[in-house]
Amino acid sequence: MHTLIFNGSPHKNGDTACLIAALRENLIGEVTQVDCYRARISPCTDCRWCTKNPGCAIQDEMQSLYPILESCDNIVIASPVYFSLPTAPVLSVASRIQTYFCQSFFRKSPVPIAPKRGGIILAGGGSGSAEPAEATARRLLKYMKAKQIGPVAASLATDRIPAREDAAALEAAHSLAAFLNGFQE
Ligand SMILES: Cc1cc2nc3c(=O)[nH]c(=O)nc-3n(C[C@H](O)[C@H](O)[C@H](O)COP(=O)(O)O)c2cc1C
Repeated sequence: MHTLIFNGSPHKNGDTACLIAALRENLIGEVTQVDCYRARISPCTDCRWCTKNPGCAIQDEMQSLYPILESCDNIVIASPVYFSLPTAPVLSVASRIQTYFCQSFFRKSPVPIAPKRGGIILAGGGSGSAEPAEATARRLLKYMKAKQIGPVAASLATDRIPAREDAAALEAAHSLAAFLNGFQE
């Protein structure tokens, strides 16, 4: 089993990192984690190359991720909530899945992504709604062929309770791992 995690936090030991650690503790198989703030992955520039050609014209680290994204069993989007959305770097990396949309919409060719399970991890500092962040994560996971999405692990009052002390969020991260491992609750 192979799980691909997109981490949208700039903090190596912050709230999102803590929930990712709780997930990974219980996850079986191989894990590839993309730290979106540090990855050398440019955003999609809407160059339109993929409306006529397979793949992506931008030659960067995303090229080695495409095969993993296509073949993996699980994809997790983990991000702090910024202005009620996932952070800009996670959206920037995710913009590179536009090639699959173009493959299906313009080139009428089947998208080579194996069906998978999806997961969402969110950390928020207690201001405003996190619903848009979850909705965006769900939409991205759908484009990446996540057919089922597990329990959302969200710690949304980190201004008062850091994720490492948020028992419900940590428990949800464990439940998400069980879901991704293939055990339905
Ligand atoms: C630019 C910026 C925007 C933010 N917007 C929100 C928001 O809309 N809602 C919220 O609850 N917290 C917001 N926060 C707080 C972070 O989501 C919160 O501190 C989170 O726990 C950080 O997670 P991390 O430690 O994994 O980076 C924002 C923080 C920053 C820096």
